[in-house]
Amino acid sequence: MELRWSEEHDMMRKMVRQFAEEKVSKAVPAMEEKDEFPLELVKEMGALGLMGIPIDEKYGGAGMDFPSYILAIHELSKVSATLGVILSVHTSVGTNPILYFGSEEQKNRYIPRLASGEYLGAFALTEPGSGSDAAGMKTTAVKKGDRYILNGSKVFITNAGAADTYVAFAKTDTKALGAKGISAFIVEKDTPGFVIGAKEKKMGLHGSNTSSLSFEDAEVPAENLLGAEGEGFKVAMANLDAGRIGIAAQALGIAEAAMEHAVDYAKERKQFGRSIGKQQGVAFKLADMATQVEAAKLLTYRAANLRQHGKPCGTEAAMAKMFASDTAMKVATEAIQVFGGYGYVKEYAPERFFRDAKVTQIYEGTNEIQHLVISKGLMNG
Ligand code: CAA
Repeated sequence: MELRWSEEHDMMRKMVRQFAEEKVSKAVPAMEEKDEFPLELVKEMGALGLMGIPIDEKYGGAGMDFPSYILAIHELSKVSATLGVILSVHTSVGTNPILYFGSEEQKNRYIPRLASGEYLGAFALTEPGSGSDAAGMKTTAVKKGDRYILNGSKVFITNAGAADTYVAFAKTDTKALGAKGISAFIVEKDTPGFVIGAKEKKMGLHGSNTSSLSFEDAEVPAENLLGAEGEGFKVAMANLDAGRIGIAAQALGIAEAAMEHAVDYAKERKQFGRSIGKQQGVAFKLADMATQVEAAKLLTYRAANLRQHGKPCGTEAAMAKMFASDTAMKVATEAIQVFGGYGYVKEYAPERFFRDAKVTQIYEGTNEIQHLVISKGLMNG
């Protein structure tokens, strides 16, 4: 399969690359050091139309196709995987569940704000006792008059604290087993009884917010139920399918950047009288890195293409996420090896790529869960 880009795609790539190289790269050292959420850059992304790339113009989005959105995450992540995940979570699982499962009132109320970047979106599924087994959640929602009263807690929520809306999941029927009885809600940040916990200190993705959330008799208006009661697990899973293509693109960006840094360094660095890239030990590593990056790219854009054409893409998205994240980890590790001692110090980018790559094998479903999704797809196909 050949990747064919339209003029629109080329313009998107050029615009995001320019923004990333001119603005984002300058902010990376401070984000690394202070671990502060890059609010100004996210606002600029809103002004550039990046916070609603695949959202219909009718709802204030850019009305572009899904591969354009994936291109944006890929390009941003080459410079900052932090901005890549902020955009991916905001769009794939913070905005799209409202777009695809929301009522017309909910769409009109939230989507234009999210698509313009006035609001930032988040997704609250994982709990202290339920990560991979997402259906094992304990958070409850009990209907009382015109509100649902939510109780429970969530962990590892990306964009928490900075986000204005949270697509959150709770059991409305506690007697129902497994995935049944789970419902989705749109929770606004200033909901009474909704508390955002302290920011986690992470290995990588510095600047990105990751916090716990707690619902302490949180009062969510009944009109913020997203989809029907009991439909919540489907809301989560259906949006995670496309969400995983976003994480694949983030991992691809990290891998490609690590490979390019390694190639540049291998051209420059001389040992035994010639460039290390001309010596077989390093040359073969570079060849493997480039091949893996290319394969990750094809899987990622193939899944994005299927999604664009409305075809089932859960299996392909899981393959792309699993392969691209494993590639990011392998290529970042090898980039450090090519850099030698310089690869181990913070002054050079491979050290950051290595730390940022690790989580792509973990979030939006661990790679072990992706194996499960792919094998289930094979058995049911
Ligand atoms: N689309 C629509 N519906 C789906 C679906 C999909 N892709 N996958 C499953 N469903 C439906 C099933 O059809 C089934 O419905 P019925 O009973 O009506 O048939 C129901 O959901 C339950 O399906 P399963 O029996 O397959 O569910 P399960 O309990 O075995 O779990 C799982 C499946 C794949 C393991 C799932 O729990 C999973 O994906 N776990 C990982 C969780 C995850 O990805 N978390 C990410 C958190 S968000 C995040 O990380 C964001 C970030 O910060 C970057």
